[in-house]
Amino acid sequence: MSDMSVKLGALTLKNPVMTASGTFGYGEEYNKFYPISKLGAVVVKGIAPWQSHGNAMPRTAEVVSGMINAIGLQGPGIDKFLTSSHYMPFLRTTGATVIVNIWGRKPEDYALVAERLEAEKDGIAALEINVSCPNVKEGGLSFGTNVASMQSVVRAVREKTTLPLITKLSPNVSCIADFAKGAQDAGSDMISLINTIPAMAIDIETRRPKLANITGGLSGPAVKPVAIKLVYEAAKAVSIPVIGMGGITCGADAVEFLLAGASAIAVGTATFADPAAPLKVLNELEEWMDSHGVKSVSELIGQVQI
Ligand SMILES: Cc1cc2nc3c(=O)[nH]c(=O)nc-3n(C[C@H](O)[C@H](O)[C@H](O)COP(=O)(O)O)c2cc1C
Repeated sequence: MSDMSVKLGALTLKNPVMTASGTFGYGEEYNKFYPISKLGAVVVKGIAPWQSHGNAMPRTAEVVSGMINAIGLQGPGIDKFLTSSHYMPFLRTTGATVIVNIWGRKPEDYALVAERLEAEKDGIAALEINVSCPNVKEGGLSFGTNVASMQSVVRAVREKTTLPLITKLSPNVSCIADFAKGAQDAGSDMISLINTIPAMAIDIETRRPKLANITGGLSGPAVKPVAIKLVYEAAKAVSIPVIGMGGITCGADAVEFLLAGASAIAVGTATFADPAAPLKVLNELEEWMDSHGVKSVSELIGQVQI
């Protein structure tokens, strides 16, 4: 049997397969299919200081090999997240390793959420800072496409928490290495990538955009080669662990991301087609490692032969 555990700095995961924020809710529905504690980590949908209903419908459209979404960061907000039985109190009962994804419109918003989570951090393994959502007008992408703005968010959160910090990078930049290094320099313990890629689809009969928001973010297998390239370049630029995601649907995809330099991976859009997709990816990764004589995940990380 292969050793599936991975060490991400101070954070050790039982295996490298996580859920991607926004594609797994807060775990409750999925825990009815299988114990979500089997996964390396559950990354919850973004939490802001306020409750948010997101963008107008339609907010998702299927495209060849993927989907475009403009959910617009719908979420319960920090108060409800910490108190309602559907969110953090529920997650604490599952024994899952929980990573809380956070967002805001100003660095102070992120800091406020981080401070609240720090005060009730029992059962929280790490924070993931979303500086890269293409679907919110302020914050989101505007932080993620400017190194100094991104760093102001990372520093604001760093001041408020001792939890391991992951900065989630945007693929929509010209030099990913600058952002990866910038996140590391500002105090991030890890980086994760990629978030969705800005995209648009038009219904040719109605001649209208398929999303009410007009544009959205592309995810799923269509983005995987882009994600592999960016993970490869980001991993070369930093000494902190990288979490890779973008279009992963099977164990072989996970192996590819690990070889590119990821120390852990996340499964997102695939979960919409199969609620057990993260577990399937984990099982297939383990089978692949067994059949290839790979005894530990660390034997794969960054091992692409150039
Ligand atoms: C419907 C949907 C909602 C998402 N919501 C969030 C979010 O709240 N916060 C975030 O950081 N990323 C969010 N993402 C991005 C995913 O976490 C992931 O980075 C991206 O979809 C690429 O992975 P995938 O191709 O496996 O889906 C969302 C993606 C989708 C498809």
